[in-house]
Amino acid sequence: MDIVSKWTDLLEAGIIKTNNGVIVELNAAARAMGFEEGKVVRIPKSRILKTEIGECEALIYGEHIILKPIDTFSQMKQFLIDAIAHEILTPITSIGGLLYLVKEGIDVEKNIEKIENHLGKIARIVDELLLLSKVEMGNYVPRSRRVELRGVIQEILKLYADRVERKKLEVKVKARGMMKTDPEALGIIVRNIISNAIKYTDPGGKVTISASNKRIVVEDTGVGIPPKELPFIFQRFFRASNVRDRGGSGLGLAIAKHLAEVLGFEIAIDSRLGVGTRVELKM
Ligand SMILES: Nc1ncnc2c1ncn2[C@@H]1O[C@H](COP(=O)(O)OP(=O)(O)O)[C@@H](O)[C@H]1O
Ligand SMILES: [Mg+2]
Repeated sequence: MDIVSKWTDLLEAGIIKTNNGVIVELNAAARAMGFEEGKVVRIPKSRILKTEIGECEALIYGEHIILKPIDTFSQMKQFLIDAIAHEILTPITSIGGLLYLVKEGIDVEKNIEKIENHLGKIARIVDELLLLSKVEMGNYVPRSRRVELRGVIQEILKLYADRVERKKLEVKVKARGMMKTDPEALGIIVRNIISNAIKYTDPGGKVTISASNKRIVVEDTGVGIPPKELPFIFQRFFRASNVRDRGGSGLGLAIAKHLAEVLGFEIAIDSRLGVGTRVELKM
């Protein structure tokens, strides 16, 4: 009997395997819901569990517990607000520290530049969220222009120049040609893909970006994505089990995918754990 398939969207369901209530195995969605192996799960009489992504309905089947999020708007909103607040709070805290240094007259020029970078980051997060909500409400109308690809990529790389240098990453760009598309949305999609390649590649690694009028490909020699978790990475808030040591909200690829759909692009991801990841954005 295939219990899970009765849900139209399997990706939204989490499966927990337990042994006398102790979690022995989780699928990626269950992990995204905030469960941890070795923990005890107790299913309340009402069968409603509180999880990181809001309330879930639990269905017990043998030693498996299948979870289905009760996707009420207010719960999603609450989680979204928490995630955003955290993403924005981090740069704000840094700005506080940097302002103190400036007041003391320490490395003034350099620290003011850092403050500007953090402010830019906050503005980008807010911009992206406004855009995402527009797209999800069906209110986003892309405005196509001819976009010069090399320029787009260079602008994005400037944002991460510090990080690239700190991690001694080798970044190669082979970009030619133009695309007729919405420059703002394309910029956000490509930035999320490039920022992931930089974030999830360890020091000394390599990031290769190639672009032509039909496709943009970003390859890295980073940590990769566990094969079982690959189907979930476009889900909002999902983060793979091997990246817990790095910051992130799990929103980037969800946003990128939504925007790509609006522009008529497809995003394909290939990844090998511990070897690297290849993300292709194609017309
Ligand atoms: N280039 C990559 N290399 C390894 N893992 C990646 C890469 N890109 C995305 N991922 C995985 O997909 C997850 C979702 O990505 P994303 O939505 O951008 O969220 P975030 O980067 O905030 O965690 C990441 O947490 C990571 O596990
Ligand atoms: Mg990301």
